[in-house]
Amino acid sequence: MLRIGMLTSGGDCQALNAAMRGVVKGICSKRDDVEIYGFQEGYKGLIYSNFKMLTSRDFSGILTVGGTILGTSRQPFKMMRIPDEHGLDKVEAMKHTYHKLNLDCLVVLGGNGTHKSAHMLSEEGLNVITLPKTIDNDLWGTEMTFGFQSAVDIATDTIDRIHTTATSHSRVFIVEVMGHKVGWVTLHAGVAGGADIVLLPEIPYDIDVIADAINRRKAAGKKFTIIAVAEGAISKQDAKLSKKDLKKKKEKEKYPSVAYELAEKVQKKTDQEVRITVPGHTQRGGSPCPYDRVLSTRLGAAAAEAILDGEFGCMIGVKKNEMVRVPLSEVAGKLKYVDPKAPIIKEAELTGISFGV
Ligand code: F6P
Repeated sequence: MLRIGMLTSGGDCQALNAAMRGVVKGICSKRDDVEIYGFQEGYKGLIYSNFKMLTSRDFSGILTVGGTILGTSRQPFKMMRIPDEHGLDKVEAMKHTYHKLNLDCLVVLGGNGTHKSAHMLSEEGLNVITLPKTIDNDLWGTEMTFGFQSAVDIATDTIDRIHTTATSHSRVFIVEVMGHKVGWVTLHAGVAGGADIVLLPEIPYDIDVIADAINRRKAAGKKFTIIAVAEGAISKQDAKLSKKDLKKKKEKEKYPSVAYELAEKVQKKTDQEVRITVPGHTQRGGSPCPYDRVLSTRLGAAAAEAILDGEFGCMIGVKKNEMVRVPLSEVAGKLKYVDPKAPIIKEAELTGISFGV
């Protein structure tokens, strides 16, 4: 008997179900003595032994379905070693559930925080294999995460729709795109949607350069300007502050999000009317795009192969369009940032996009 535990953790994204389907179909095509334990709402299900017994039939018909059939929750890594309100040691509880159910392995689908916990469980002796899930595409060790392309499609669609209304008005439009620490979705949606200004957390902006770009467009007879700004975009001045001082400043300013802060600054500097659009969690919602369906199916099938080979302690990642097994020790705790010197930045600048610097 092969006993597989499975959980989805952290913020959801498109193609989580498709990836799990890939794993289960891949294993069940080779073995018929398989038991699947679906832990509910991420690590919480493993901690509190809350699971559903699933069969391969539960994974049929979910290729195109958004969300996750297991539910998910955020269980911050830094809280894992801190006992819960009843004094329960979460790490010991997870190990206990795993051993009590006699699991052969645990399949974990998640992003950055999830991988830190997965690595810890692997170090604690559990057989763990992970799949790279996040719209942010910021996981180290893989060129691509599933969810990313679907989110780019949605953010691009938002910019496209703003474009048509923008042509009717003389205004500055700000579209706030998800990504607190990294700007991959903003960069790709910004380029794909033909945004005029793209602001990323990795490239702190200068408000005077932004104002100048807007004014130059106006002087050239362009009626509108579209700014794609990542949730975590930051000004040059703020980037110089310590984490503590920045937190204090943000608390004092009380902007609902970065787009509102930017709108106020732009309005003051350019005297132009500004409008804000925040697509928010729609970027993680709905059906996965075809690219993500293919990617997650391939990743899932490659995870099935690794399980059948008995190889654990790794994430299935993508390198040069091949599915590869990357040790969790290489993945955990590292982010894949946009390199400000990357060719795509230069190419975007050449086509007239300003990064506010
Ligand atoms: O990590 C994925 C992500 O969608 C980020 O892009 C975003 O900043 C964050 O999650 C939002 O988190 P939550 O769903 O907890 O509001």
